Amino acid sequence: MKLELTHTNSFVNKEKIQSYESQVASTYNTIYNRTGAGNDFLGWVNLPSEIDESLVSDIEKTASELRKKSEIFVVIGIGGSYLGARAVIEALQNHFAPLTDAKPLVVYAGHNMSEDYLRELIAILDKKDYSMAVISKSGTTTEPAIAFRILKQHIINKYGEKEAASRIIAITDKAKGALKQLANVKGYKTYIVPDDVGGRFSVLTPVGLLPIAMAGIDIRQLIQGAIEIEKLCKSNPTLNGNFVSEYAVVRHILYGMGKTNEIMVNYEPRLVYFSEWWKQLYGESHGKNGKGIFPASVTFSTDLHSMGQYIQDGIRNLFETVISVENSDHELRIPMESEDLDQLNYIAGKRISEVNHKAELGTMLAHEDGGVPNIRIVIPEISAYVLGQLIYFFEMGCALSGYMLEVNPFDQPGVEAYKKNMFALLGKKGFEAQTEALNKRLGK
Ligand code: PA5
Repeated sequence: MKLELTHTNSFVNKEKIQSYESQVASTYNTIYNRTGAGNDFLGWVNLPSEIDESLVSDIEKTASELRKKSEIFVVIGIGGSYLGARAVIEALQNHFAPLTDAKPLVVYAGHNMSEDYLRELIAILDKKDYSMAVISKSGTTTEPAIAFRILKQHIINKYGEKEAASRIIAITDKAKGALKQLANVKGYKTYIVPDDVGGRFSVLTPVGLLPIAMAGIDIRQLIQGAIEIEKLCKSNPTLNGNFVSEYAVVRHILYGMGKTNEIMVNYEPRLVYFSEWWKQLYGESHGKNGKGIFPASVTFSTDLHSMGQYIQDGIRNLFETVISVENSDHELRIPMESEDLDQLNYIAGKRISEVNHKAELGTMLAHEDGGVPNIRIVIPEISAYVLGQLIYFFEMGCALSGYMLEVNPFDQPGVEAYKKNMFALLGKKGFEAQTEALNKRLGK
C-alpha cells in the first residue's frame, strides 16, 4: 500500500521547501521529546504501535455481542467523540447502507440539538432493536448529555433497566465527569479515553474503534495502516523522504503566500466525512491567536457545479489538497448506444472511474491555471488500512503544522465562548453575572 504526495512546483519550488529542513527536524524533536506547548496531549503519537492487544480483543468481543442483538447502533458524541468513527464508517460502508440489509446500521446523535432530529430518531428506535455508545471524554458536554438523557430513558422503557444496561457502552475519562459517575452507578460497560489523547486525536482509541467495529470493519487493519506511518515518521523524522513533513511544509509556505484557505477535495462521496474529521482536526488545532489556515471541503465533481466557479475565479487565497483514489471497488462501464442521441459514444466502453480521473486531472490543471495550488495525496483504494495511514498522516501533519505556526495544536480555548453564553442564557447556576451582561446587550 502506498500514499503519494505531489504538489504544484510552480507555486512552491524545491529550494524553498528545502529551506525548512532544520525547522522540520527540530519540530519532530519538540514532538518526540515532548517539549512543546500542549505536550501532555501527545498520547496519539505512539498510540497505534502501543495499543494493547487485550483492549482490541475486548472491543471486538463487545462489538460482536452487541451486533447480534442490534439492528441499529447509536453513537452519541460530538466533535472528536464522533467524527473519526463516522469518517471511517462512511468511507467503508455501502453508499446506500440504510437501504440494504446490513446490520447494525450505525446512526449518530448528540452532535446537534435539533429537536426534530432526536424525535425522528426515537420514532425509528421505537420499531428497531438497538444499542448505543455514549462517548464524551469530559463527560460533561451538553449536546451528547441531552441526547443520552433522552435515549437512556427510551432504551430503559423499551427493554427494562437490566437489559438496557447491557446495551449501553460509556466511553469517557477514567475518573472525572458526570458520565463516568453515571456509568459507575448504572453498571455500564466502560471504555477509557486516555488522559493524554485529545478528542480530535482519539479515533484510534475506543472512541473510534468501538463504533467502527460495530459497523463490521476490521479495526486491526486500521491500526496497522496507522502503524506504518507512525514508523515512517519515527524512522525518518526529517523533511527528505517523508511526505508527512512535506505536506506540513508546503501548506506552511502556501499560508505565508496568503493562501489562507485549504480545501480538502475528494472525488468519492464516501469521503465526505473524512473531510469533516480533517476539518475539525486542523480547524480546532490551528485556528487560534488570530492565525491558522481555514479548512474547507468539497466533493467533486458534484461541487464543481456549485463551488467550482469560486475556486476557479474568486479571491485567490485558496489552495486544494486532493485525495485521489486510484482504484474503485466496483466496475461499471458506459454502454454504447447505436443512436448516440446523448452524444456519449465517444466515451462508450470506458469505466466511470476513468472519466472521474480525467475530470480530476482537468480540474487540477484548470485550478492551477486559475492560481490555486494543488497538493495531491494518492491512495490506491479506500480500505481500512489506507484510512489508518491517512489518519496518522494527518495527525502528525497537524502537529508539525501547528508547531510551525507557533500555536498549541492541542488546546481549544475558543470553544468555550459559545458555551459560556449558552449557559448564561439558559440560567445555569454560576453564570449569573454573564446572564445580566448578555441581557443588557440584548436589550432585555
Ligand atoms: O477535539 C476536541 O477536544 C473536541 O472537539 C471534543 O472532542 C468535543 O468538544 C467533545 O468533547 P467531549 O468528548 O468531552 O464530549
